[in-house]
Amino acid sequence: MTEIRIEGSEQSFTCAPSDSLLAGGLRAGLGMPYECTAGACGTCKFELLEGDVEVLWDDAPGLSARDRAKNRKLACQCRPLTDCRIKIRFDEACMPQVNPLKQTATLIATNEITHDIREFRFATDTAATFRPGQFATLQLPGVRGTRAYSMSNLPNGKGEWHFQVRRVKGGNASNTLFDQLHVGDQITLDGPFGMAFLREDSARDVVCIAGGSGLAPMVSIARAMASTGQLASRRLHFFYGARTQRDVCGEALLESLPGFGERIRFYPSVSSTQEQDAPRWSGRVGFIHEYVEEIMGADLHGHDYYMAGPPPMIQAVLDTLQTRHMVDKSQIYFDRFF
Ligand code: FES
Repeated sequence: MTEIRIEGSEQSFTCAPSDSLLAGGLRAGLGMPYECTAGACGTCKFELLEGDVEVLWDDAPGLSARDRAKNRKLACQCRPLTDCRIKIRFDEACMPQVNPLKQTATLIATNEITHDIREFRFATDTAATFRPGQFATLQLPGVRGTRAYSMSNLPNGKGEWHFQVRRVKGGNASNTLFDQLHVGDQITLDGPFGMAFLREDSARDVVCIAGGSGLAPMVSIARAMASTGQLASRRLHFFYGARTQRDVCGEALLESLPGFGERIRFYPSVSSTQEQDAPRWSGRVGFIHEYVEEIMGADLHGHDYYMAGPPPMIQAVLDTLQTRHMVDKSQIYFDRFF
């Protein structure tokens, strides 16, 4: 274990040799700033003042040339080799709800959701403790680094973690999950992480906006609203943006929840009507941010927004909510994946 001291404060934490500085700080319950945990966003930048670290990804896009010249590093991509002194600005919003734990997880079942999204169910020896909407990182055999996937189920004492993963063409991690991992195989699971979890203390109705395999955290939020009685006082508008008709999913998962059709409304939209889809799809065609704007109309400001999906979808929704309609950013929750 190494000791990491924080410049300008009395705080310090110990970090296991196998942990990144980010993971070590979060396990200690500190508000280490982060978004992606994967080297891409740059949120976890720090200055190394003393000590030595191993850099896991030299060319991580989260650092600019200027950052590198100033000896800035990414806490999610550095493992301490010695005791260190670092300069970093904590963010109270990043203070973990549940301190993340790295543990072995066993694949116990799989379930097809669409032609290219499959649910993978893992079990750990300890309870699955997280907030609905959060994610975990998976270390898969033969895959460099870790990948972040959101849970679709609810926290539970059985230690079950369910992930809905889309197969990405040429994607090493998703192809390993789909083709090489079998029931009974073990991986390393670390979590929970993320700030886009359901705020149960808000009285506002909820809008969930999902695209692609962003379905999972939104389903977890819907399940949490149903299981905690939130639907008695708050409605849920659930939007799903798909490329084509055969990519649409979510309704089957939601219709088993009490209040579906009344307290829970499902709004799917496809952005493309390819020839073979055209005769079968009679629903909405267009981008999901436009559909949200149309349905929520004059009531746009009266809701809390949770979203997960491809970065262009997230950006388009942000442009609509914040730039066009000036919805307060405190009502919008998402984790930036890359
Ligand atoms: Fe480290 Fe995104 S680059 S959290």
